[in-house]
Amino acid sequence: MNQEVARERILELSIEINHYNHSYYIDNISLINDFEFDLLLKELESLELAFPQFASVNSPTKRVGGDITKKFDSVVHRFPMLSLGNTYSEDEILEWAIRAQKLVTEPIQFVCELKYDGVAIGIRYKDGAFSQAVTRGDGEKGEDVTNNVRTIRSIPLQLSNDFPQDFEIRGEIFMPHQQFQRINEEREAIGENLFANPRNTASGTLKMHDPKVVAERGLDSYLYGIYGHELMDQGHYESVLHAANWGFKTPNPEKRFIEKIQNVEGIMDFIRYWDNERSNLPFDIDGVVIKVNNYQQQKLMGFTAKSPRWATSFKFKAKRVETSLVEISYQVGRTGSITPVANLMPVVIGGTTVKRASLHNADQIQKLFLHENDTVFLEKGGEIIPKIVGVNLDKRIGMAKPIQFITHCPECSYLLVRSEGEANHYCPNDGACPPQVKGKIQHFISRKAMNIDGLGEETIELLFRKGLIRDISDLYVLKADDLLQLDRMAEKSVAAMLTGIELSKNTNFERVLFGLGIRYVGETVAKKLTKAFKDIDVLKCASYDQLIEVEEIGEKIAISVIDFFSIETNSDLIERLKKVGLCFTKENEVLDSTALLDKTIVISGSFSVFSRDELKELIEKNGGKVGSSVSSNSDYLVAGENVGPAKLKKATTIGVKIISEEEFVKLISL
Ligand code: IVH
Repeated sequence: MNQEVARERILELSIEINHYNHSYYIDNISLINDFEFDLLLKELESLELAFPQFASVNSPTKRVGGDITKKFDSVVHRFPMLSLGNTYSEDEILEWAIRAQKLVTEPIQFVCELKYDGVAIGIRYKDGAFSQAVTRGDGEKGEDVTNNVRTIRSIPLQLSNDFPQDFEIRGEIFMPHQQFQRINEEREAIGENLFANPRNTASGTLKMHDPKVVAERGLDSYLYGIYGHELMDQGHYESVLHAANWGFKTPNPEKRFIEKIQNVEGIMDFIRYWDNERSNLPFDIDGVVIKVNNYQQQKLMGFTAKSPRWATSFKFKAKRVETSLVEISYQVGRTGSITPVANLMPVVIGGTTVKRASLHNADQIQKLFLHENDTVFLEKGGEIIPKIVGVNLDKRIGMAKPIQFITHCPECSYLLVRSEGEANHYCPNDGACPPQVKGKIQHFISRKAMNIDGLGEETIELLFRKGLIRDISDLYVLKADDLLQLDRMAEKSVAAMLTGIELSKNTNFERVLFGLGIRYVGETVAKKLTKAFKDIDVLKCASYDQLIEVEEIGEKIAISVIDFFSIETNSDLIERLKKVGLCFTKENEVLDSTALLDKTIVISGSFSVFSRDELKELIEKNGGKVGSSVSSNSDYLVAGENVGPAKLKKATTIGVKIISEEEFVKLISL
């Protein structure tokens, strides 16, 4: 393919993929299936690989993340990012509206919007291209989180239609409930503490150093304010709707996310509507925002020290009810962590009946100083899960005893342990405690681990009950005859199950390691570990120092890995799994090519097309080894911008070939 054809095809593919992304993430319409979409993305990726000079920083292929951000630069806002006045009282909203009207002669038209409970962001676009995203910070300057925001699918990287040449759009980045729940389920599965609420999770995610992790977190956005010198619309409402034509996800008037309103009754109606309806939204809001629509009037009204006079917000009170505590039960997770749960007299809050509320850990019970049969206050803020926020002491029964955290596992009666610095109690009987054993098997067969078709939670439960499986290795010795004896097991489903199990032997090392369910070893950590240690035996022998040398592996993970391998039953399990043919090495994994076989390649500097991690992956996927320093064993030094001078000098002195990123790509594009 010649350069001109490649350039055109790259452009064409980018436009097409951006269009599908927009329909999917903004209009909720799926125009193409996943497979066809991936094909287009792969075609674009490989063209960009072969013709890096045409790969834009805003290419849709960059949605999956790029280089690690070492430090977030501080950026001064061109327009200060102010906060809003707020109140919980309808009377004060009325007073605000009267004050506002006194400042201008023409009647005011108001705009009411949702107050999204996330993190404020300002995004600059130049010539229609996404150029910089900055957090609110202290209002005068914020942090440059451009690379993280680029991964959010509902934020366009290239605008369409009549966009202004240089402007900023502001809005809120938040985490939808569905993503929040998914992430917490994943965290629970690897024994990590759960995130408290979607807002804090969104805020923490935006400050993460690895954009790849941000890309996987599923953040979303609504944009609601346009700032620039040459804006074309007369009012806020019109300009927000106009920005939808440029490709932004803006509040939808049909869903009443934004509404133009003529009078105070209309404002109150909007407030009451959303106070009732907010529990049905797929994300959190903590109130509504009321703004003066006309830009000219806004200008006349001006600002107080901290906030505009032309806008304010009404905050919803957290919904609070009283109910009584029936008893505390304790759940045992896959990793043995014990979660106390309050069983309550059923009570309706925010439209749903609540019977249970998590108490998280012993400290939480202590903090509430919870007693038997206490009457508790249950609150549901914007958040999904109601929580116990206090005890009505007036209603405490005279001789009630304080709740004592259990000392033994409710499932297997083992003595619980709580290590120093840990919030949770654990049951150490991981080899025989039923929920731990079943949980480990369920984790092993799950989609992101071995992805075994034909086996589900209920079947695992049944097989466990019938004594056919006691650990994951038993899956590989299941016999059709034994299975056919069981209730509801027809020949067809048994065959599907055994095929699924057999096929799982092709799963790569990374996923097998994740599937073992070592505490704190999630997908990303498993990836890093298998990259650094070529097989399970090398990993097993790795010292603490060798482990923490690996990127993103800290003390907690290192200790957990060492602990896992120090237990004899775990080593025995791995030996059994090896015998049945599971993959515990990177060696026999399929390579993209053997173009770099036996070559040791050192990379240095920063690169325009690939991140350093991507380059390392490409070296390995094409059969090469990544060297950390230039020596007589090195075959190439791939030199990027600001290449290390010492490395460059050494390579020149000892005659190691120095190549550019582009030349490297040519080496692997056969
Ligand atoms: S307008 C000068 N509109 O609330 C006014 N803010 O306390 C700028 N927020 O930091 C803000 N939804 O993060 C505006 N529809 C909305 C909003 C909204 C949420 C947040 C925003 C801001 C905070 C103000």
